[in-house]
Amino acid sequence: MSRPKILITEPIPDNVIEYLDRVGEVTVGRKGTYDSEDTLRKDLPNYDALMCMLSTPVSRSVLEQASSLKIVANFAVGYNNIDVSAAKELGIKVANTPDVLTEACGDFAMALLMATSRHFNDAEQYLRAGNFKGWEPLGFLGMELRGKKLGIVGMGRIGQAFAHRAKAFGMNILYSNRSQLPSDIESSLEAEYISDVRELARQSDVLSLNCPLTPETHHLVDKEILDIMPQHSILINISRGPVVDEETLAKALHEGSISGAGLDVFEEEPTVHPELLSAPNCTLLPHIASATYETREAIGMLAANAIKQVLSGTDDSEISNLV
Ligand code: GLV
Repeated sequence: MSRPKILITEPIPDNVIEYLDRVGEVTVGRKGTYDSEDTLRKDLPNYDALMCMLSTPVSRSVLEQASSLKIVANFAVGYNNIDVSAAKELGIKVANTPDVLTEACGDFAMALLMATSRHFNDAEQYLRAGNFKGWEPLGFLGMELRGKKLGIVGMGRIGQAFAHRAKAFGMNILYSNRSQLPSDIESSLEAEYISDVRELARQSDVLSLNCPLTPETHHLVDKEILDIMPQHSILINISRGPVVDEETLAKALHEGSISGAGLDVFEEEPTVHPELLSAPNCTLLPHIASATYETREAIGMLAANAIKQVLSGTDDSEISNLV
């Protein structure tokens, strides 16, 4: 019997590729090649399994052409790049990578908040430009976190990991979510549930987006929310760019209607809205929340394992990360 063919859309940690080499015949694409739907549509019919990135557009029309394909394993927890209902109709399994990136993302959200609340970006640019002439009592004053309210939109695994860290910094946790958390989790975080996102935005000193991108969360942070947010408040986004109306956010930052934003994700990656690039107190990072050696390897192994299991006919109920 011929070995199954596996396409990995771009280079990932070596030992994950070595693991999949034992499962089938692996092809690794060059960075960016499969960010195009046309290339994917053309090549995917030759493969039994796909490991793709969050930038790979796995649309219905791509899946319809891929007659041998049995599984799409996303090298990410968020899978808004995949038409899951089309895959289901076509009998193609979809896997993602929950849990393994939770702690890295929790750390990163905290770091992004601290960098933004204490103006790391503007202050570092100031220093590198040769403007540091000595300690100043009024230079780069920021917002202290102790006693402030962190409003988390989307209190799943990553939202909770961020909440635990923020609580250790003395912040008070508020959250909105599709459903209220069980009381034991709420009490361990001393978290208060606020079902209405507008009310959450009104009460929060920091508003953090930790929800998936869905039709309901697209542009959840719009002009109305930005107008409601207090003037001293900060927005943090490590979820997906389109959860925020970027142009309106840039305007709010330039006008000073909120005081800062820490963004790891953008509406049209890799493009960043030019008005954000020039906005004050804005920490902009290139989608790296899960980027640690340990986590990227764990992401790869979890996705690879789903491929191995599906190709060997394992029952769906035994595969932990199918969506
Ligand atoms: C990264 O953004 C992920 O969804 O894993």
